[in-house]
Amino acid sequence: MADQVIAPGPKGSQLGRFDRDAIGFVTAMEQEHGGIVRISLGPFVVHLVSDPDAVKHILQDNAKNYVRGKFYGNFDLFFGRGMLTTDGAEWRERRQVSQPFFHKPRLVEKSPAITECAEDLVAGWEGAADRGEVVDVTDDVMTLSMGVFGKMFLGVDLRPYSAELQPATLFAMQAVLRSGSVSQLLPRWVPTRYRRTSTRHRATLDRVMDEVVERHVRGEVEEHTVVSALLAARDEHGDPWPREAVLAELKTLFLAGHETTGCSIVWTLHALSRHPEVRRRLEAEVAEVLGGRTPTVDDLADLPYLKQVVSESLRLYPAVWSYPRDVVADDTIGGYHVPAGSSVLLSSYVTQHSRSLWENPEAFDPQRFCPAHQVADRPKYAYYPFGGGARKCIGFEAALMEVQLVVATVVGRVRVDSTPGRPIGMWPKASLRPMPNVLMTASRVPS
Ligand code: HEM
Repeated sequence: MADQVIAPGPKGSQLGRFDRDAIGFVTAMEQEHGGIVRISLGPFVVHLVSDPDAVKHILQDNAKNYVRGKFYGNFDLFFGRGMLTTDGAEWRERRQVSQPFFHKPRLVEKSPAITECAEDLVAGWEGAADRGEVVDVTDDVMTLSMGVFGKMFLGVDLRPYSAELQPATLFAMQAVLRSGSVSQLLPRWVPTRYRRTSTRHRATLDRVMDEVVERHVRGEVEEHTVVSALLAARDEHGDPWPREAVLAELKTLFLAGHETTGCSIVWTLHALSRHPEVRRRLEAEVAEVLGGRTPTVDDLADLPYLKQVVSESLRLYPAVWSYPRDVVADDTIGGYHVPAGSSVLLSSYVTQHSRSLWENPEAFDPQRFCPAHQVADRPKYAYYPFGGGARKCIGFEAALMEVQLVVATVVGRVRVDSTPGRPIGMWPKASLRPMPNVLMTASRVPS
């Protein structure tokens, strides 16, 4: 139609630029063209959306018009068809089974799982400090995060499986994204090294989750867990869910839950090591409130600076940095025509780094989140590390609890410092990972 206004954007396919440097590319697009940018990625028309009102429109106001879609095909390979990749009634049925396990009172009841794993982590790092060894913060925190997830939601400590689950997760984070790579594009029956590796990692995820289910079936897990709720679930005909559907839900929660939270903890410790003045202030707050003891959920209200630090870390390094949706019917967003069948790419990273919304956005400055800075005056979707609307992260409270309790436990006992000559970059796949693994030297905090 003649009066349809097309959003600004670059000419020609941008797939190559996106594949080479996704973060650099999306950031530049916002700076050059604004909060709604029309981009061609190979054959696909995609609107990169970072303007807060436009984000609200998609996640909340007209959410029914925006569905999972063509970019989620590979997700099903690793996550299965679960809560993250379905829509409508299918999604609702899945979310309802898990939702009670994310209610605040239950999370509080289960929160000792977090501090138990944090205590083990810190004990390991104190030992490394005494021996003068470097610690692999990424590996250790991912193991912790698996332990926390397993203990809180599955009734099974997953840390013993860490050595096999970590490579499987890392592979999945990359493989779920649709890329132009030849190995992904070949028909599925063509055997390639990539395909064999993919099959092996998927088998690992399936086997571990299947073991967790079997432990429940054999009655070895006494508490009521997400697994027992999934086994008790019935479909509309009164039949139990197929094992495949149960596994899909468990893989979804595992992959969406532990990797993101782990990345957020690693990024926070990385940022603290680069900002000694912030770390000193946080250490002082933690020392005053905890006096050397292990934190509990009740302490969090007395640790406001800790909350600011974590909020700022999630602003700079949102673990789920972008996610696509397909457009069901023609729509107008911010005055621009968005055609049915095209896609939108929401990016919390771009919004949270926007110069038009944040002063000096690249700086790590927890003061942005102090009450005096009128957090409420910002547009709602200037900051949305956990998404929004009905599809808002089911685990956001669990994640915030975990990141805060782990960081408080670490900061109260050990100081971890970046090793020189090892620049840490961003690896923007399904999650935003620090890359390479963060190696740090540990020293005990003087008491
Ligand atoms: C700092 C850590 C975390 C971050 C930054 C994060 C971020 C997000 C975001 C942005 C979404 C929305 C994606 C979309 O709308 O397409 C999401 C969804 C989801 N998250 Fe999280 N998440 C975190 C931790 C967790 C945890 C701890 C769990 C579970 C234990 C979890 C499970 C999920 C699930 C199942 C969904 C899909 C929900 C649905 O579609 O109904 N996440 N997460």
